[in-house]
Amino acid sequence: MQKNTRLATRQENIIAKLKQADLRGRGGANFPTHSKWQMFADVDADKKYIVANGSEGEPNVLKDGYILKNHPEVLVEGLKIALETFKSSEAFIFLRRDYFKKYKKKLEKLIGDLPITVFREHGGYLSGEETVLCEEIEKNLPARPRTKPPYPGQVGINGLPTLINNIETFYYVAKISKNEYKKTRLYSITGKTFYKGVFELPVAWSIKKILTATKALPEFDYFVQVGGGASGDILLASETTQQVSGSGAIIIYDKEQTDPWVLMRTWIDFFMNENCDKCTPCREGSYRILEMVRDRQFDKKVLDDLFFVLENTSYCALGKSIPLPFKSAIKKLLAHTRN
Ligand SMILES: Cc1cc2nc3c(=O)[nH]c(=O)nc-3n(C[C@H](O)[C@H](O)[C@H](O)COP(=O)(O)O)c2cc1C
Ligand code: SF4
Repeated sequence: MQKNTRLATRQENIIAKLKQADLRGRGGANFPTHSKWQMFADVDADKKYIVANGSEGEPNVLKDGYILKNHPEVLVEGLKIALETFKSSEAFIFLRRDYFKKYKKKLEKLIGDLPITVFREHGGYLSGEETVLCEEIEKNLPARPRTKPPYPGQVGINGLPTLINNIETFYYVAKISKNEYKKTRLYSITGKTFYKGVFELPVAWSIKKILTATKALPEFDYFVQVGGGASGDILLASETTQQVSGSGAIIIYDKEQTDPWVLMRTWIDFFMNENCDKCTPCREGSYRILEMVRDRQFDKKVLDDLFFVLENTSYCALGKSIPLPFKSAIKKLLAHTRN
């Protein structure tokens, strides 16, 4: 009884701290971490799972790799806090294959006797989707998405409640618990700049301020892709007063020297390679977009229909997110050539 009271107090303390810090998940969806943890705490189960998602499969997103290389002990500390917060829990660090190869030993040394398993993912980009991740851990095989709801917080690995947070989110859970959080996040800066890398800077800073501080602000006419490395939004130089959302990527392009059709081809090739062919909208829709990009010509009516169907009927968020970069590239980079 006394033990449960102590547990409840610890739970309340950390969840209150996460709320006060207004920590948002760094896996892409920006979901408030304290709400996720509170919902998870409220689910009644004899056993629960906790997963640090280190799939990091989108091009030009580098931050989880940066944490694994430079601060793995902070990640393990964040997981330890979660294990102490949720009774009878067991954890996984879910890693893309190259990260697994590089960091497994180091992580296992830090983990010691804690109930944490370092798990090697089976697929690529799609493995980072939370239901795919649960299925892969459960079956130890490549997987496809499951229906949502139920969400993993209620029904995840082996049918048990599963808390999934990004590696960077756990990194900041550790900082917040020690009152060391300075409202920063990790930005992956890549593309046409000499100063590529991962930089820890304030969440509230604009893209322009981040590029200036990191010496990456171009002197040429540029645009950026922000948030995700393929699914991110396109912003022109005049729009860089905005903040970065999603997984914190900033990719810099030279506006004069970048052929938008070539850029769009890289995105659609990526989505076609990484999707699982389970549902028709994403499987066929991505192929129809590829055909148009290959022909360097969009049929506005067909394209609008494809986007609508992808956004509204795709089985998982991979398909739903395909239209976003295309919509902004068409509007901002191709406006004068669109049919
Ligand atoms: C196709 C796809 C790939 C994803 N890849 C990742 C990933 O590599 N890492 C990650 O943390 N979240 C990824 N997500 C989001 C996860 O499903 C989940 O929302 C996230 O891990 C939750 O962590 P957070 O609340 O800390 O952001 C992906 C989602 C989709 C649809
Ligand atoms: S949206 Fe794409 S990735 Fe998701 S289930 Fe359908 S085919 Fe697979």
